[in-house]
Amino acid sequence: MAKWLLLFFVLVFGANGKRSSLYGGTDGENFSDGQSQGIVRVKIWSGYIVDGIQVQSDQGGEHVWSDPHGTSKGETKEVVLAYPDEYIYKISGRTGPNPWTSNGLSRLYLHVNNRRTNAQTTFGPFGTYDYSNQTTFDSPEGTVVGFFGYASSTTYFRGIGVYFQDPCMGGSFVAACQIALETVDPPGPAAVILVTHGRIVSSVGLRGCNQKIL
Ligand SMILES: *[C@@H]1O[C@H](CO)[C@@H](O)[C@H](O)[C@H]1NC(C)=O
Ligand SMILES: *[C@@H]1O[C@H](CO)[C@@H](O)[C@H](O)[C@H]1NC(C)=O
Repeated sequence: MAKWLLLFFVLVFGANGKRSSLYGGTDGENFSDGQSQGIVRVKIWSGYIVDGIQVQSDQGGEHVWSDPHGTSKGETKEVVLAYPDEYIYKISGRTGPNPWTSNGLSRLYLHVNNRRTNAQTTFGPFGTYDYSNQTTFDSPEGTVVGFFGYASSTTYFRGIGVYFQDPCMGGSFVAACQIALETVDPPGPAAVILVTHGRIVSSVGLRGCNQKIL
């Protein structure tokens, strides 16, 4: 019974887990960078709040910049990932009313993991003003491969969300991916977690995207 419940959970999570919620508001224009092979660098314009972002991603081996989303003026910061070892595993921040909008992205953090060393680095805060009426958000964890949201050159940044590499989603999937990436040749994310158990768990195995069983 428990075995079936676990498999059901994995399937549902994998199917629905390709994209986070939208954090923030929906003024301005919607944008979607879609899913890439990986994020290489992120440029962020920010001051009191987040003005805009621009993302360079791996599109079939070429590192391609997206259009700037939001307002590309003011202070620019750039987060350069040691790609492909490093990837963004989560975004967090604050959304809500600020002096320029009733619901915007006021603060953003990018959380980066290195799949070789497991070293984790947090970049930010981007957007530094402490608005007491903001709410905080944390995206689910996974391998972030794209951004979507609402922004325009006149409205600053309003809402943000991320796409995850399918099927690597959630804390247990991140751990699974890291193990698989180190031990499967060629490297690939884990597709299936195999759990064998009676009253206790007796073994845990992984099936990678190349179908190799560890
Ligand atoms: C933006 O929203 C419109 C209307 O809902 C939709 O047709 C379009 O596909 C969306 N564009 C993006 C990039 O998500
Ligand atoms: C939220 O806080 C900002 C800055 O303190 C203020 O300008 C704004 O009016 C507040 N909004 C609401 C809805 O309280």
